[in-house]
Amino acid sequence: MSKIPFKNDGWSGNTGEYDLTEEQVRGIDFVGERPIGGGHPSVSPSYPYMLEDKNPDASLFEGPYKERFEKILTRYPDKQAALIPALNLAQELRGYISPVTMDEIANLIGLSPAYVRSVSTFYTMYNKQPVGKYLIQVCTNISCNLCGGEDVLDAFLKYTNAELGEISNDGIFTTIEAECLAGCGFPTCVQINSQYFENVTINEVPKIVDYLKSIHEKSSMSQEEEG
Ligand code: FES
Repeated sequence: MSKIPFKNDGWSGNTGEYDLTEEQVRGIDFVGERPIGGGHPSVSPSYPYMLEDKNPDASLFEGPYKERFEKILTRYPDKQAALIPALNLAQELRGYISPVTMDEIANLIGLSPAYVRSVSTFYTMYNKQPVGKYLIQVCTNISCNLCGGEDVLDAFLKYTNAELGEISNDGIFTTIEAECLAGCGFPTCVQINSQYFENVTINEVPKIVDYLKSIHEKSSMSQEEEG
């Protein structure tokens, strides 16, 4: 996601409380778009990175993803330990982890399909069904809940015109409820793909949704022009 054109009031670097930029706090690899080649020295962060463009039919793994997968395998003493980063990579590529993807990963790593399914279904960070271009995760855990997190969640559902966990009719949005996103000091915390929005109130939700729609329209137009 490109840099938002309006002030993200919630971001701690913008509140005046800290004289730090988002890049300084999160690290450059976790701000904005992640390069397809990995970007991070580990080639896979500790959570699945959500790209705007997902390819559910992509092979596991080809091209730069094959290189990253092979590098992941070299980083661990046994293949089992590479399961989480391999699942992260598969979700980054396909957007979700289907039962077929679980079986493919099991085959690639040499683990039983049952083991891979048990791990994949344990973690809520793995989407078990396709999601929209923008995955909106609204924290409703205690700090955010006390500051209106559930209202923010309802507002996102209303303005994206979608049911919880479902893709909106325009294919752009999926909104889900998230457990603590570790931004408790800045409730309500919302993660959209890999970008954080903090201190989000219901008043900011239309602005954020409109912004996402506008960048979606721009990217669709430029893709049409190129095609
Ligand atoms: S309770 Fe919402 S980020 Fe921790």
